[in-house]
Amino acid sequence: MTDTARNDFLTAAIDSESADRLEAQGLRLALVDTSDTDSLGEWLRAENRGFYGSAMDSDTLEFVLPRIAGRRTTGVWDDSAAEPATPVSTVSIWPAELTVPGNSSVTAWSIAAVTVAPTHRRLGIARAMIEAELRTAASLGVPVAALTVSEATIYRRFGFGPAAMIADWTIDTARAAWTGPRSGGRVHFVSPEDLLVDGLELVERVRLETPGHMAFDGILWERLLGFTGAQDAGKHLRVVRYDDEDGELQGFAAYKVTETGADFSKHSVELGFFVAATDDAYAGLWRFLLELDLVSTITAPLRSVDEPVAWQVADPRAVTRASVRDHLWIRVLDVPAALSARTYRAAGHIVLDVEDDLGFADGLFLLTIADDGTAMVEQLHGEAPVDAAAIALTVADLGSLYLGGVSAFTLARAGRITELRPGSAAAIDDAFRSVVAPWLSIWF
Ligand SMILES: CC(C)(COP(=O)(O)OP(=O)(O)OC[C@H]1O[C@@H](n2cnc3c(N)ncnc32)[C@H](O)[C@@H]1OP(=O)(O)O)[C@@H](O)C(=O)NCCC(=O)NCCS
Repeated sequence: MTDTARNDFLTAAIDSESADRLEAQGLRLALVDTSDTDSLGEWLRAENRGFYGSAMDSDTLEFVLPRIAGRRTTGVWDDSAAEPATPVSTVSIWPAELTVPGNSSVTAWSIAAVTVAPTHRRLGIARAMIEAELRTAASLGVPVAALTVSEATIYRRFGFGPAAMIADWTIDTARAAWTGPRSGGRVHFVSPEDLLVDGLELVERVRLETPGHMAFDGILWERLLGFTGAQDAGKHLRVVRYDDEDGELQGFAAYKVTETGADFSKHSVELGFFVAATDDAYAGLWRFLLELDLVSTITAPLRSVDEPVAWQVADPRAVTRASVRDHLWIRVLDVPAALSARTYRAAGHIVLDVEDDLGFADGLFLLTIADDGTAMVEQLHGEAPVDAAAIALTVADLGSLYLGGVSAFTLARAGRITELRPGSAAAIDDAFRSVVAPWLSIWF
């Protein structure tokens, strides 16, 4: 994405194809002027109602409005409705750096706040808005779009595929005696305010190590530390930081403790956010949590599917990984730009015959992967190299393969991708797979 496009994302014109389609239904697709707090407040009210949130108090509104003003904010209005100033549909967008394999990142069109009022559902409004914003992204040269979803049945039709999974972990601490390494640093209690700046620097420092991580700051970051604008939002949060032997911050954990029943020795800990820049910090923080007195259970939702802590306790059955599910969905818009932004684990040629109903990624592409793992990607016009692996797939399945967390071999067995040459899926797996399981630790 060029700098001009990055600057233009807020104000880029509304897509006329979708605007015309909605206008024919008596609806108006438009951008919100985010400097106008009344308009943005109406938009926020609609978004909040769409997700069944309770009405926001004035403190929360005052906190949230300036923090979302930097997002591209679109809505659909029905001028014949009883409250014509409140949109009947909302979408919010910003460009964020998405980590891809190879300790590098690509700009992703992050889509959030997709709602349509129940009074206007199934009229094609969501389709018109999503298609519009994908066309805008493509016109600005953004290589991929990304979203986290409340329902897994909606977005494949728009070319998104699940690319990074999450799991909820539960640990029975009585059975989970620590057998991992002993860390040399110290754990300290700190207030959430203490980590607002240093904690974000730490998160940024480790972001490129895990495909699927995204740059998050502003409201996404502050919420993790309990700041939402509501008076007592963070009052149950406890925060500990881990400093290494030199006193450098290398990780922190934010958690809540709840009582479970009459037995005072059976508190539960729910881990809200946990980040470690080193294996030493990871071990130091997990050991601290597992050895908390009067706690019998730790739940850790929204974690990676592959957590070393499962290998750091005496009884492996003390650790349960449940509810492995899709979390981050990726939509490839520009195949050469997206695929050349990451690296691969095996050299060679790969031909991808991509089908995209919306047209952005449709075509035949050749990846030429060098010995150092970098790839050149171009449209294939002539014959494919004789040694090339070759598959046909939809753009949604390309999105699933993109971060290296989903097996091409499994997708071929599932009938989702078709081998155009025998053995191609395994060869693509060798090249695409990421050593680190792709993961995104937040909702957006
Ligand atoms: C989900 C939601 C945005 C859909 O809006 P909508 O305007 O009714 O959707 P559309 O009429 O444009 O439908 C678009 C397509 O999605 C399908 N679809 C819509 N909602 C769906 C759902 N909940 N589950 C599965 N498919 C759905 C439609 O059948 C339609 O398919 P087609 O175009 O291939 O025939 C809306 O119901 C909503 O706001 N729900 C509550 C908030 C929410 O869940 N948002 C999603 C956040 S990730």
